[in-house]
Amino acid sequence: MYHILIIHGPNLNLLGEREPEVYGVFTLEDVNNVVRAHAKRLNVQVTFFQSNHEGALIDFLHEHRKTAHGVVINPGALTHYSYALRDALAAVELPAVEVHLSDIQAREPFRKISVTREVCIDQVCGKGQQSYLDGLDLLVRHLNAVNQ
Ligand code: DQA
Repeated sequence: MYHILIIHGPNLNLLGEREPEVYGVFTLEDVNNVVRAHAKRLNVQVTFFQSNHEGALIDFLHEHRKTAHGVVINPGALTHYSYALRDALAAVELPAVEVHLSDIQAREPFRKISVTREVCIDQVCGKGQQSYLDGLDLLVRHLNAVNQ
Protein backbone atom coordinates (compact mmCIF):
# COMPACT_ATOMS: atom_id res chain seq x y z
CA MET A 1 0.00 0.00 0.00
CA TYR A 2 1.38 3.41 -0.93
CA HIS A 3 2.09 5.80 1.93
CA ILE A 4 1.44 9.39 0.87
CA LEU A 5 2.32 12.54 2.81
CA ILE A 6 -0.29 15.32 2.61
CA ILE A 7 1.51 18.52 3.57
CA HIS A 8 -0.01 21.94 4.17
CA GLY A 9 2.14 25.03 4.53
CA PRO A 10 1.77 28.36 6.34
CA ASN A 11 -1.64 29.84 7.15
CA LEU A 12 -3.61 26.85 5.90
CA ASN A 13 -4.53 26.06 9.52
CA LEU A 14 -6.80 29.13 9.29
CA LEU A 15 -8.89 27.83 6.39
CA GLY A 16 -12.54 28.63 6.96
CA GLU A 17 -11.82 32.01 8.49
CA ARG A 18 -8.95 33.14 6.26
CA GLU A 19 -10.09 35.14 3.20
CA PRO A 20 -13.10 32.85 2.59
CA GLU A 21 -13.85 34.65 -0.69
CA VAL A 22 -10.50 33.36 -1.99
CA TYR A 23 -10.05 30.04 -0.21
CA GLY A 24 -13.59 28.94 0.65
CA VAL A 25 -15.44 28.38 3.90
CA PHE A 26 -14.24 24.85 4.61
CA THR A 27 -11.68 24.19 7.34
CA LEU A 28 -8.39 22.32 7.09
CA GLU A 29 -10.06 19.45 8.93
CA ASP A 30 -12.75 19.40 6.22
CA VAL A 31 -10.03 19.19 3.56
CA ASN A 32 -8.28 16.39 5.42
CA ASN A 33 -11.57 14.51 5.77
CA VAL A 34 -12.30 14.58 2.03
CA VAL A 35 -8.69 13.60 1.29
CA ARG A 36 -8.92 10.74 3.81
CA ALA A 37 -12.14 9.46 2.19
CA HIS A 38 -10.58 9.66 -1.27
CA ALA A 39 -7.42 7.89 -0.05
CA LYS A 40 -9.61 5.08 1.26
CA ARG A 41 -11.23 4.72 -2.18
CA LEU A 42 -7.77 4.60 -3.77
CA ASN A 43 -6.53 2.19 -1.11
CA VAL A 44 -3.58 4.36 -0.09
CA GLN A 45 -2.40 5.37 3.37
CA VAL A 46 -2.15 9.10 4.08
CA THR A 47 -0.31 11.05 6.79
CA PHE A 48 -1.25 14.71 7.28
CA PHE A 49 1.00 17.53 8.41
CA GLN A 50 0.57 21.30 8.60
CA SER A 51 3.07 23.85 9.78
CA ASN A 52 3.58 27.58 9.63
CA HIS A 53 7.33 27.00 9.78
CA GLU A 54 9.52 26.31 6.78
CA GLY A 55 12.01 24.26 8.80
CA ALA A 56 9.30 22.07 10.32
CA LEU A 57 8.01 21.23 6.83
CA ILE A 58 11.54 20.37 5.72
CA ASP A 59 12.16 18.24 8.85
CA PHE A 60 8.89 16.37 8.21
CA LEU A 61 9.96 15.57 4.63
CA HIS A 62 13.37 14.37 5.87
CA GLU A 63 11.84 12.20 8.59
CA HIS A 64 9.54 10.39 6.20
CA ARG A 65 11.84 10.19 3.18
CA LYS A 66 12.58 6.46 3.59
CA THR A 67 9.07 5.28 4.39
CA ALA A 68 6.78 7.41 2.21
CA HIS A 69 6.15 6.81 -1.48
CA GLY A 70 5.03 10.29 -2.49
CA VAL A 71 3.88 13.74 -1.46
CA VAL A 72 0.91 16.01 -2.11
CA ILE A 73 1.94 19.46 -0.95
CA ASN A 74 0.33 22.85 -0.73
CA PRO A 75 3.33 24.97 0.23
CA GLY A 76 1.20 28.12 0.71
CA ALA A 77 3.23 31.29 0.19
CA LEU A 78 6.48 29.28 0.44
CA THR A 79 5.63 28.19 -3.12
CA HIS A 80 6.74 31.56 -4.37
CA TYR A 81 10.13 31.96 -2.71
CA SER A 82 11.34 29.02 -0.63
CA TYR A 83 14.42 27.59 -2.24
CA ALA A 84 14.98 25.64 0.99
CA LEU A 85 11.66 23.79 0.60
CA ARG A 86 12.36 23.32 -3.09
CA ASP A 87 15.74 21.77 -2.28
CA ALA A 88 14.15 19.52 0.37
CA LEU A 89 11.62 18.22 -2.16
CA ALA A 90 14.47 17.52 -4.56
CA ALA A 91 16.65 15.97 -1.84
CA VAL A 92 14.13 13.43 -0.58
CA GLU A 93 13.57 12.12 -4.12
CA LEU A 94 9.89 11.40 -3.56
CA PRO A 95 7.45 12.16 -6.38
CA ALA A 96 5.44 15.20 -5.34
CA VAL A 97 2.41 17.01 -6.70
CA GLU A 98 2.00 20.69 -5.84
CA VAL A 99 -1.57 21.77 -5.15
CA HIS A 100 -3.28 25.10 -4.54
CA LEU A 101 -6.85 25.91 -3.61
CA SER A 102 -6.84 29.15 -5.60
CA ASP A 103 -5.66 29.77 -9.15
CA ILE A 104 -2.22 31.24 -8.51
CA GLN A 105 -1.92 32.27 -12.17
CA ALA A 106 -4.96 34.53 -11.91
CA ARG A 107 -3.93 36.49 -8.79
CA GLU A 108 -1.17 38.94 -7.82
CA PRO A 109 1.98 38.80 -10.00
CA PHE A 110 4.16 37.41 -7.16
CA ARG A 111 1.95 34.30 -7.01
CA LYS A 112 2.56 33.41 -10.65
CA ILE A 113 6.04 32.17 -9.79
CA SER A 114 6.41 28.78 -8.17
CA VAL A 115 9.93 27.80 -7.20
CA THR A 116 8.71 24.38 -6.05
CA ARG A 117 6.88 23.43 -9.25
CA GLU A 118 9.97 22.31 -11.13
CA VAL A 119 10.81 19.65 -8.54
CA CYS A 120 7.24 18.31 -8.59
CA ILE A 121 5.80 15.95 -11.18
CA ASP A 122 2.73 18.12 -11.61
CA GLN A 123 0.72 21.06 -10.27
CA VAL A 124 -3.03 21.41 -9.70
CA CYS A 125 -4.54 24.75 -8.78
CA GLY A 126 -7.77 26.69 -8.70
CA LYS A 127 -10.12 23.83 -7.84
CA GLY A 128 -10.57 24.37 -4.11
CA GLN A 129 -10.51 21.11 -2.12
CA GLN A 130 -10.71 19.20 -5.40
CA SER A 131 -7.12 20.29 -6.13
CA TYR A 132 -5.96 17.93 -3.37
CA LEU A 133 -8.05 15.04 -4.71
CA ASP A 134 -6.83 15.56 -8.26
CA GLY A 135 -3.28 15.83 -6.91
CA LEU A 136 -3.65 12.51 -5.11
CA ASP A 137 -5.05 10.89 -8.27
CA LEU A 138 -2.11 12.16 -10.35
CA LEU A 139 0.38 10.93 -7.77
CA VAL A 140 -1.16 7.45 -7.51
CA ARG A 141 -1.31 7.17 -11.31
CA HIS A 142 2.38 8.12 -11.46
CA LEU A 143 3.31 5.57 -8.75
CA ASN A 144 1.35 2.84 -10.53
CA ALA A 145 3.09 3.66 -13.81
CA VAL A 146 6.61 3.57 -12.37
CA ASN A 147 5.99 0.48 -10.24
CA GLN A 148 4.40 -1.76 -12.83
C1 DQA B 1 -2.25 28.92 -1.78
C2 DQA B 1 -1.84 30.08 -2.71
C3 DQA B 1 -0.67 30.85 -2.13
O1 DQA B 1 -0.32 31.92 -2.98
C4 DQA B 1 -1.02 31.40 -0.77
O2 DQA B 1 0.09 32.06 -0.21
C5 DQA B 1 -1.56 30.38 0.15
C6 DQA B 1 -2.52 29.42 -0.37
C7 DQA B 1 -3.53 28.22 -2.27
O3 DQA B 1 -3.79 27.11 -1.82
O4 DQA B 1 -4.27 28.78 -3.10
O5 DQA B 1 -1.28 30.38 1.34
O6 DQA B 1 -1.21 27.98 -1.76
